Amino acid sequence: MKLIIALYPLFYSLFFPLCGTSSSADDRRWLLSLVDLVELDYVDHCEQRASATWSELTGDSKGLSMKLERDKSFGMFARQQTTDVRSALTAHALAPDDNILRRKVKLLLQPGDTLLETEQWMRLVTFGDTALNKIRFATNYDCDTNTNCTLRELNYNLARQQDEAKQRRMKASWERNLPNITDYLEHILPLLRNASKQNSYNSVEEYWDALGEYEGGLLKARELWDRIKPLYLKLHKYVALRLRGADAVGKPLPIHILRSLSGDDWSNIIENLLPKHAGIYQKVHANLQLKELGGMNVFKRAGQLIKDLNFGEIEPETLTDSVYNSTCPTTLVDWCKPNMMKAVTCKDVSIGNYIEAHEAVMKMKYKEIINLHSNNTYILREAPRYSAIYEAIPGFVSLLSLNPHALNRAGLYSLEIFNYNPNYHRLVLQLIMALRDLPKLNFYLAADEWRLKVLMGSIPYAKIPSSWSEFRKNFSLIESSNTDFLGDPYIIFNKPFLGKFMGVILKYQIYQSYAEELISDESDLISHVAETNERLINTMMQGYGTNWLEMVSDLLAKRENGLEDTALTDYYRLLDEYLDNQLEPANENEMSEDYIDPPIIDTPPDENEIQTSEEATDKTIKVVENVPSHEDIISNVIDIGDESNAKLGIETSTVGVLEIKNPVAAEDHTEGASTKEASYNTYWWIGIGVALAVVVILVAIIARKRHSHRKQLEKQRRENSRA
Ligand SMILES: *[C@@H]1O[C@H](CO)[C@@H](O)[C@H](O)[C@H]1NC(C)=O
Ligand SMILES: *[C@@H]1O[C@H](CO)[C@@H](O)[C@H](O)[C@H]1NC(C)=O
Ligand SMILES: *[C@@H]1O[C@H](CO)[C@@H](O)[C@H](O)[C@H]1NC(C)=O
Ligand SMILES: *[C@@H]1O[C@H](CO)[C@@H](O)[C@H](O)[C@H]1NC(C)=O
Repeated sequence: MKLIIALYPLFYSLFFPLCGTSSSADDRRWLLSLVDLVELDYVDHCEQRASATWSELTGDSKGLSMKLERDKSFGMFARQQTTDVRSALTAHALAPDDNILRRKVKLLLQPGDTLLETEQWMRLVTFGDTALNKIRFATNYDCDTNTNCTLRELNYNLARQQDEAKQRRMKASWERNLPNITDYLEHILPLLRNASKQNSYNSVEEYWDALGEYEGGLLKARELWDRIKPLYLKLHKYVALRLRGADAVGKPLPIHILRSLSGDDWSNIIENLLPKHAGIYQKVHANLQLKELGGMNVFKRAGQLIKDLNFGEIEPETLTDSVYNSTCPTTLVDWCKPNMMKAVTCKDVSIGNYIEAHEAVMKMKYKEIINLHSNNTYILREAPRYSAIYEAIPGFVSLLSLNPHALNRAGLYSLEIFNYNPNYHRLVLQLIMALRDLPKLNFYLAADEWRLKVLMGSIPYAKIPSSWSEFRKNFSLIESSNTDFLGDPYIIFNKPFLGKFMGVILKYQIYQSYAEELISDESDLISHVAETNERLINTMMQGYGTNWLEMVSDLLAKRENGLEDTALTDYYRLLDEYLDNQLEPANENEMSEDYIDPPIIDTPPDENEIQTSEEATDKTIKVVENVPSHEDIISNVIDIGDESNAKLGIETSTVGVLEIKNPVAAEDHTEGASTKEASYNTYWWIGIGVALAVVVILVAIIARKRHSHRKQLEKQRRENSRA
């Protein structure tokens, strides 16, 4: 049917122009049906590319070659279709009120880098696909163990490595797997000049602004950064002070001591930075382990928050068909069809992965919501544009994942305890977020600015190969290598970070727009958003039908109609004050002593908390007996390593002093031993007075867990014998 529709105007146009009877209505019909057809072809390509990408990501031996083939033919197709659309676009094909069609035509005529000449496009995707495949599947990383390891293990071990020399070696082993820098600088990065020309822009900056659909976007980003920079610098000084002492303050920090590979996320060093009253961190960290909130569990948890926010359920297949034994950060694969999106991610439990999972699952929900609207045909769903809104709404949900009400709902931290010292707890939560978002903002802008500088020729040719580390030193106060930016897919594929940068700014504005509507700071933000989420849904529904910047005003309930840094800086008000006090020790005691002791014993773990971790088999409990402050008395902290932890012989950072092994009857242990090598190292920080009481509770908990575990084993045995 579609084919006939498409062919009709073709015949029409072949014959009727000769008779001079072509009318604007016919031109329009022709254009409409051509666009229809092109979009269908795009969907086919998307589906085939997604399948190939999926094979590649999940380790199929033919995956990479399939992906290369698909990506190459996609480029040729995209180039061809612009020619077709352009030829159908006659002077009066578009009526004045044809906004949607006009928008589609614009997006189809300027598809971005796919307009490169075929040979150049192939060079770009070959470089990118091959590089990412190698980074993902290399097994020669150095994890400071006897054998070489995988990327997942590298991430896992680097996050826990305390020794600076080892951190450096680990990062170096990663750099050895990055693509060749000369190749990149000579053959890949300069493609951007050609791509700009092909899309009719005079400069790469203009081209990137256009892809981000924000005229003067990079200028705006610089302006915003100038106002956020003071907070970044304070955080940087504080990190330097805590990691290296007063002499290091204000000097560049080597990336590896941030336990990061490219320096865009510092959250692995959180334990070195915690303020005095950091019980909430310890508790959330412990509960994530106890509930095994990694892999599919954390995706399900994120789906629950999204449901609580009234966005509806995530399609169950989306979660069950995803793969959880790969590496983080999460990669999403989109088949460009209703409800056909899957994730490839890791199973490791951490606060960072917890936050990130909320963002990833909300991105899937976003696509589901776009897909519900038939007006959002392919090009309006999948436009090759970098929309800050597509980044900001999922980012907003990840901010909400650490909201006290969300933590309470997830059983990670009770609201009742939170309300004893809300500001102390908020400070810790802000610190966690800041360690992720501020370095990211800086990295995004650094990467865009540096690439533009290289392309504009403002760096002497001989200095280009070492210019990244030079740039990072000045712009970020970070000591990086010359090549460590080459692990990022956006850089490898010449994509601008502008949309992501703006997305981070905007998510704080969305947050603020909702937070300001609350009656009091204590009100439940989650249910408030759930009740008033139309403005989010309406925005998502529009897909790329409207330029994102034009939707910002409605998205923010008309408070602001552009990007502002103040929402972000207001969000971090407590952190900002705290950093001032830490860096200016004269005022040190200003805020510290209104801390209220909550009731001695934290609410005992609830039913869920006990029952969820079904794989738990070991019962090694370490009780720490040093009691430095009253904080530690009340926040009974559990820190549990996981299997790979035990296997690789890595100690968790919390110190264990007194070890209590198997506090429950010994005969019980033999039964579980046949199943699975056990691995629960539990550290309890408690006061001596409370220790006994807690052990009593523990015994009860473990007995119950053991009971449910035994039931599970029996169930499995029954099922096995049936099978
Ligand atoms: C580990 O990787 C290094 C660097 O690629 C290599 O030289 C070494 O032989 C590898 N070791 C093992 C045990 O595979
Ligand atoms: C850009 O295009 C020109 C003309 O087609 C070509 O000569 C040049 O090699 C291209 N640049 C790169 C980096 O491929
Ligand atoms: C990862 O899990 C998938 C199923 O979800 C399985 O097919 C695959 O073999 C696993 N890969 C590894 C490396 O364990
Ligand atoms: C698209 O949306 C407009 C209004 O938003 C509506 O009038 C039109 O019927 C829709 N078209 C399709 C194909 O759903």
